[in-house]
Amino acid sequence: METLKTNGIEIAWRRRGRGTPLVLVHGFPLDGTIWDDVVPLLANEFDVIVPDLRGFGRSTTDVGPCTITDMAGDLAALLDHLDLSEAMLAGHSMGGYVALAFAKKHPGRASGLCLVASQAGADTPEGKEGRYRTIEAVTAAGTGALVETMAPKLTADPRLQELLRALMSRQSRAAVTGALGAMAERKDLTGFLSSFADPLVLVHGDADTLIPLARAYDVKAAAPSALVVEVPGAGHMPMLENPAATAAGILKMLAMD
Ligand code: MLT
Repeated sequence: METLKTNGIEIAWRRRGRGTPLVLVHGFPLDGTIWDDVVPLLANEFDVIVPDLRGFGRSTTDVGPCTITDMAGDLAALLDHLDLSEAMLAGHSMGGYVALAFAKKHPGRASGLCLVASQAGADTPEGKEGRYRTIEAVTAAGTGALVETMAPKLTADPRLQELLRALMSRQSRAAVTGALGAMAERKDLTGFLSSFADPLVLVHGDADTLIPLARAYDVKAAAPSALVVEVPGAGHMPMLENPAATAAGILKMLAMD
């Protein structure tokens, strides 16, 4: 794992394969290791770059409040560091919000987008309030309750739930509260996606209870050229529940290019 100092923090990242640059962006409250099963399936076609978002994994954990656009800025700095003018991005859930913000903020640098179990809309007022209540709870008592609440929402597979509990428990309180605030304040980028001219793929489990499959079809309604790849039986973690189908979906960006 390598690190890059940018914006006053260290961003950890790793790289494997050769071909079109592809950044795999993890979701909340996880880290880049969620992609471990799909990276080998992509490395023959892509130059795969897997960062840990600020606060998470091996990146600086002691972070302050931030925005989704700040996280996207870290990715832009990483691409600058690697001397890459553009890349395709596949983002899982919150990572999809970051990938979208990257594409909006850095026109021409996202040559394809794949939203994995993600969405383009903003939080509802109730959803936003819930995030701030969770920030208070995590600040007061740590991440334990959040981890227990989230695990069954991520997947129905008990073995994966166990793995994800361990992964979520490793993430810092600061990362979790920072990302919750960032997600609460994110903007609705559906309109932006309707004008996105590069390949757009939506990989979504048909059993996702955290972000239902209908959200992928909301994007498709706004951006009709988008391709929806349904992963049968998968919940919110298709890259772990069905790595082959997830990799095949991400690869579709190349076919659409
Ligand atoms: C995620 O899985 O990254 C988050 O749960 C997404 C969200 O809460 O909106």
